[in-house]
Amino acid sequence: MTVCSAPGKVYLFGEHAVVYGEPAVPAAIERRARVTVEPRADDRVRVTAEDLSLDGFTVEYGGSTGGRPNVDVPTPLVEAAMGYVDAAVRQARSAADAPDAGFDITVESDIPLGAGLGSSAAVVVAGIDAATRALDEPLDRRDLADRAYRAEFEVQDGQASRADTFCSTMGGAVRVEGDDCEPIDAPNLPFVIGFDGGAGDTGALVAGVRERRERYRFAADTVRSIGDIVRAGEELLAGAVPEADPSRELLAELGDLMDFNHGLLAALGVSARSLDAMVWAARDAGAHGAKLTGAGGGGCIVALDPDTETPTALSFTQGCEAAFRAELATEGVRVEAP
Ligand code: PMV
Repeated sequence: MTVCSAPGKVYLFGEHAVVYGEPAVPAAIERRARVTVEPRADDRVRVTAEDLSLDGFTVEYGGSTGGRPNVDVPTPLVEAAMGYVDAAVRQARSAADAPDAGFDITVESDIPLGAGLGSSAAVVVAGIDAATRALDEPLDRRDLADRAYRAEFEVQDGQASRADTFCSTMGGAVRVEGDDCEPIDAPNLPFVIGFDGGAGDTGALVAGVRERRERYRFAADTVRSIGDIVRAGEELLAGAVPEADPSRELLAELGDLMDFNHGLLAALGVSARSLDAMVWAARDAGAHGAKLTGAGGGGCIVALDPDTETPTALSFTQGCEAAFRAELATEGVRVEAP
């Protein structure tokens, strides 16, 4: 039995603009998906999902992973969850050159699904790592991140950047620009997350930004300005002491950039009433800055606040279903049990 876990992430800066070649800085958070893999004697795959925002289900299917599993939970939810596990299995089989390998897989996740926190990337990264280790063919981190990206790319019909999977693999903060991904130093940022209980449609939101960017020069300028914010944010992070508590001045400056980034994302049409309400609740409570994270349209915001005011204010905000603190996860994917 091999157990691996991988963290979710927030975008400190740069979602959407990263699709057009601007840099982005996601940061891993201490909310993890754990995947347990036990090789089987046959070529079948059995998946048990404990809490992928579902009540829990088990599906079993044959050697060809194409067939629809027969389970009694709503099809879109099963397909969403299964698609990623399935793609991870294909990548692990191909990496280990074991096309007929069968597995019993258990997924446990405390990252809300589809809410901008990188739940699918964490499942895919931990899944490929656990399955290749179970087959005695462990991957180095760069290869693992690349395999995980390919799995997401396949499931999301090409609408995937390398940001989520690279960040979940490496942990800490990372910088992504096109295919170029690098870990960067970051202080211990005091993230607070607000979750509206929903999820945005990433494909539709990305398509909406693309259309505006093609139609209006000022929308293209807005995308470039987000790139400028990311570059300014990177400079701030580069001047900070890695993994130490950041100064109030640094938090204030990073927060300003996050506020600006949220405004530009809203201008591009990807915010939502619930996200704006949570962003304003966080700012009113004294957060240094707040913005939506991920594709938008619903899901999560991220705020910077080392004190208790922001989580408390968010928990009383209409439309906020959950508020929690999430420290920077300095460790990316890791083995929980060999
Ligand atoms: O909602 P998430 O965490 O999948 O992030 C989407 C981020 C986008 O920049 C909008 C798209 C992408 O793949 O980079």
